[in-house]
Amino acid sequence: MRPEINPYSPGSGLNPPDLVGRQAEIDAFDLVVARSRGRRASRGIVLHGLRGVGKTVLLNRFLLQAENADWFTVEIEGSATDSGREVARHKLGRALLLAVRRLQRSKHFTEELKSALGTVKSFSLSLGVASVDFGFDQTKGRADSGKIEIDFEEVIEDLAPALQKASSAFGLFIDEMQDIDDELLSALLTAQHKAGQKGWPFYIFGAGLPSLPSVLSASRSYAERLFTYRQIGALDFSASREALLIPAGRLGVEYDVDAMSEILDASGGYPYFLQTYGQAAWDIADEKIIHLSDARSAIAEGNAALDMGFFPARWDRATPTERNYLRAMSADEESGSRTAVIAERLRVPTSALSTARQSLLEKGVVYSPERGRIAFTVPGMAAFIRRQHADTDGLE
Ligand SMILES: Nc1ncnc2c1ncn2[C@@H]1O[C@H](COP(=O)(O)OP(=O)(O)OP(=O)(O)O)[C@@H](O)[C@H]1O
Ligand SMILES: [Mg+2]
Repeated sequence: MRPEINPYSPGSGLNPPDLVGRQAEIDAFDLVVARSRGRRASRGIVLHGLRGVGKTVLLNRFLLQAENADWFTVEIEGSATDSGREVARHKLGRALLLAVRRLQRSKHFTEELKSALGTVKSFSLSLGVASVDFGFDQTKGRADSGKIEIDFEEVIEDLAPALQKASSAFGLFIDEMQDIDDELLSALLTAQHKAGQKGWPFYIFGAGLPSLPSVLSASRSYAERLFTYRQIGALDFSASREALLIPAGRLGVEYDVDAMSEILDASGGYPYFLQTYGQAAWDIADEKIIHLSDARSAIAEGNAALDMGFFPARWDRATPTERNYLRAMSADEESGSRTAVIAERLRVPTSALSTARQSLLEKGVVYSPERGRIAFTVPGMAAFIRRQHADTDGLE
């Protein structure tokens, strides 16, 4: 069928045509907004899960809900690269200034808020973000100590109560939160903790890999109590069906029962795979009904697309030694491998693998579901490696 009206949207952070199966999370966010309106305390929300399950699009949905409620919103993203530390700070400074610009235009812009903006300006300057002229001066002696933990807390202390009086709140949205460096992370957690104690409407909403809850707890022991943690996983049967049916149905296209169950089986309910197969099925089918044969070709074509993009995006970042580690893991299924077994397979002591393991953890290719175990953060990665990279490169 005509590709130019293909409704599916496989891709990192690409909004799906219909965000299905996440009503509980959407409601949880609405509850924070409603309680904040009544000046009642809530925890922020942390979404964690494997690659491609839809954490980013859900976090973006939260952001939209916050904007609709006239919140002061700031978005940042962690990055595991060497420059990630600077980039995250810079983004925070810039995003704060952008939020200020929006605030100045809003009907909620009060005198009290105006005076809080000087603190934001000081903070942004201390992060090295050259400030555009917003027509207000930095507040000397506020948020300019150069110690991010102190400075960020002062921003919240000045801004959040003023926002509260204007019936608004401060929402900080952090994607790939496991990659925020520890200094910035602990500053943010400290501010969230303080805000909770003081009743200031400041909330962090984070998304990241399965390692995120333990990264947060390692940074601040009270992190466990700061957030509502929600594991985001594959969609259940009925939501997976809806993810395929609803977008096609709007355009008058249906699936055969067999075709539907073939795609559902192949996808395992993973949103990224559903979008990929749905897109391929749409392009392949030449009638307004997607048949079993279309579905089978779509799965083959979709897998080829995943093998070109989704999987290599992680594989290509691994060094030859790390690839051997991943190969040794690929003999096991999604539940992961015991680290001792990987060492046995590679015929080396476990300690010889600790550098490769650590580096793969930092790159976010694997995570440790429990002590002594390691698993892929990417669903289907083990099968991809068996399919495409069973042989060693001979480079190690
Ligand atoms: N609830 C959903 N219903 C249908 N499709 C979805 C849903 N959530 C996500 N998707 C689709 O799945 C794909 C992956 O989404 P997203 O990038 O948000 O995942 P992620 O968990 O952030 O992945 P990563 O860990 O790699 O950043 C996108 O193509 C998106 O459109
Ligand atoms: Mg994401």
